[in-house]
Amino acid sequence: MEKNRYVLVTGGAGYIGSHTVVELMAFGFTPVVIDDFRNAESLVIDNMNRITGSEIQVIQAACQDEETLEALFNAYSFEGVIHFAADKAVGESVQNPLKYYDNNINSLLSILKMMEKYRTKSLVFSSSCSVYGNPVRGSEAIVETIERLAPESPYGNTKLICEQIIRHWIASNPRSNAVLLRYFNPIGAHRSGLIGELPQGIPNNLLPYITQTAVGIRKSLTVFGNDYQTTDGTCIRDYIHVSDLAKAHVNALQWSEQQDVGTIEPFNVGTGKGTSVLEMISTFEKVTGISLQWHYGPRRAGDVQEIFANPSKIEHAFGWKAQFTVADAIRDAWNWEQNRIQHD
Ligand code: WQD
Repeated sequence: MEKNRYVLVTGGAGYIGSHTVVELMAFGFTPVVIDDFRNAESLVIDNMNRITGSEIQVIQAACQDEETLEALFNAYSFEGVIHFAADKAVGESVQNPLKYYDNNINSLLSILKMMEKYRTKSLVFSSSCSVYGNPVRGSEAIVETIERLAPESPYGNTKLICEQIIRHWIASNPRSNAVLLRYFNPIGAHRSGLIGELPQGIPNNLLPYITQTAVGIRKSLTVFGNDYQTTDGTCIRDYIHVSDLAKAHVNALQWSEQQDVGTIEPFNVGTGKGTSVLEMISTFEKVTGISLQWHYGPRRAGDVQEIFANPSKIEHAFGWKAQFTVADAIRDAWNWEQNRIQHD
């Protein structure tokens, strides 16, 4: 009987977490999910089980619930932890910074204390390109070694602080490894249409707002600002299919297990291509044949003008490369949105 390869996935019922749980199973790992469901719905668990054909272990609890964490680390010998659990909306973090500093930092501290106590080897940390802030030279592919890290939003700052906490922890506790995955902009949904982005209330992010406008839940998309120094005046991002991003987490875990303990490395996870807000709208219209209702509005606080990845480090280290295009991701997001309204 093959030994179970247990991996704790915090926030595993969330958008990126659920897609990663599905990929972990495909690669022979046994994920155990802890999630407080503040930003997830229980139907996600049923659908993850449908996709994987198994009963995934899910514990409903917050990462700061150290009693529950202790019981979990006691029950399983985890090979690694993939830590997603955090609040993640750039705009919301500007309005409510204390919520972000409390949850995002204290959740990490609880996880690190347990990993140290139970000598768990690998940490894969859900970081973000938001740690870079506004690139100095405007239009440049971001590399991990860029010196200046100046997040524009409290959200991005919590991710930078968490990275620094992890660096100091690894230095003091060289029995573990840490991979810091700096996501660019995750979009899309699982090809099956059974799991995808489930924004609570009014979507903060662009693509769910587009798909909710297209199905009539929202009246019109507001494009936040058209006076940026970009090709068409709107912000540019590196949009990456969530299934590509999920696979990067599995590769990160595998890579970490092959490294000497005490290793810590950041990796950009992006396609290396920038897409503007207007280009996202026109691609959506091309993929779906739907003409979208939208209008210009003022800039949004916390937004950076343009940011896209140089993904060469992750491509060389993991052999990982984004397989899906923005159009693929938009097609899958649209399929998911239509499935959702049929079942709501
Ligand atoms: C993208 C662009 C908006 C909504 C995200 C995640 C964050 C992190 C980084 C992972 C911006 C514009 C949006 C709308 C708009 N990812 N927009 N109208 O802010 O880049 O941050 O990626 O950690 O978690 O939130 O993504 O989708 O909110 O915005 O014009 O209704 O779309 O101004 O230029 P953002 P986003």
